[in-house]
Amino acid sequence: MLEVKSLSVSYGAVAALMNVSVHVAPGEFVSLIGSNGAGKTTLLNSIMNIIGRSKGTVKFDGKDVSKANTPKIVSRGMAIVPEGRRVFANMTVRENLEMGGFTRPAGEVKANLQKMFEMFPVLEERQTQTAGMLSGGEQQMLAIGRALMTSPKLLLMDEPSMGLAPLVIKEVYEKLKVLASGGLTILLVEQNATMALKYAQRGYVLENGRIILQGKASELLGDNEVKRAYLGKEYNEKWER
Ligand SMILES: Nc1ncnc2c1ncn2[C@@H]1O[C@H](COP(=O)(O)OP(=O)(O)OP(=O)(O)O)[C@@H](O)[C@H]1O
Ligand SMILES: [Mg+2]
Repeated sequence: MLEVKSLSVSYGAVAALMNVSVHVAPGEFVSLIGSNGAGKTTLLNSIMNIIGRSKGTVKFDGKDVSKANTPKIVSRGMAIVPEGRRVFANMTVRENLEMGGFTRPAGEVKANLQKMFEMFPVLEERQTQTAGMLSGGEQQMLAIGRALMTSPKLLLMDEPSMGLAPLVIKEVYEKLKVLASGGLTILLVEQNATMALKYAQRGYVLENGRIILQGKASELLGDNEVKRAYLGKEYNEKWER
């Protein structure tokens, strides 16, 4: 479904991504983990062509979208839930969802709005409230709902657990699981390696702009290097007892 080949991105003289290749098969849930500044957001933004790239190709659904602009990529069936959620705080929950679907025909927006309300009952209850009034977890659900308003085949998720309590993080991931089992393909990037790899089938580890490990998510979770670098706290707890 998604094939990213040898992607390189720099910010001025600073190389943020070097020869990054990742792929996601239809129906797969893939997580890419990496610490602060590894290049995760850069990767997703570059796939969507929100930021430019110096080298590499992106194929989506069999077509080369390397040069397609962001609206075109969205219309092909890719959507992103940005880092920090970025809901429109002064607009109502319903308006946020409608904004997500603004490129779609009115009938589709109406139908998708109904689907989002079924998927996220809290959004229906809060539909007339401004988005800024929602809790962090509710805002994350809204950001996901807003992205789903374009009826995507592939959802790119940037750091869904950021700033959320563990229980709320679990709720968000459980929703993603439901969406994945409904056929949505997911590429997720996270610092929170434990959750990201628990819910994914396959994973990548990004370090300083390069992929340094890849494999089955369950294998990465058990990998000593991953444990040391990304699951640090729990690992220490296990061993220092
Ligand atoms: N607009 C920018 N201008 C210059 N450098 C940038 C810019 N955005 C990111 N960078 C740099 O590129 C590198 C990758 O940043 P990026 O935001 O992609 O990392 P990340 O893995 O998403 O980190 P985090 O986990 O903190 O979100 C970092 O060294 C960062 O400082
Ligand atoms: Mg980031």
